[in-house]
Amino acid sequence: MSKKITIVRSEHFNAAHRLFNKNWSNEKNEAFYGKCNNPNYHGHNYDLEVMITGYINKESGFLIDMKLLSNVIKDEIIDYMDHKNLNLDVPEFSSLIPTAENIAQVIYNRLRSKIQDEFELKVKLYETSKNFVIYPS
Ligand code: NI
Repeated sequence: MSKKITIVRSEHFNAAHRLFNKNWSNEKNEAFYGKCNNPNYHGHNYDLEVMITGYINKESGFLIDMKLLSNVIKDEIIDYMDHKNLNLDVPEFSSLIPTAENIAQVIYNRLRSKIQDEFELKVKLYETSKNFVIYPS
């Protein structure tokens, strides 16, 4: 049997956030999170890579229909997070600090339920060109 294959869909969104732990003092938050603790929020240009792994469908020659995948990402992630204030506009972050780690996890969870179980899913999220996270690792 042939090996599994991975396809990757790249997407982009802009969003604002503030990293703040409500159980810490302002001083500790500022010392720990630095500029990402700015009280009036700040933006990032997030680059997202959604990776799907599985076996090629013999009949279609596709792993998964890229058009369907891009629609799912648009509906679940881009329309949900683009040009939003993550802390204020996205319910998942009302009680979760919107670090790149947590954003990647939220993205994964939202996509996972929309993608067939036979496919493995991984999310790579760039907060800057130098800093990115992969979930699950
Ligand atoms: Ni930040």
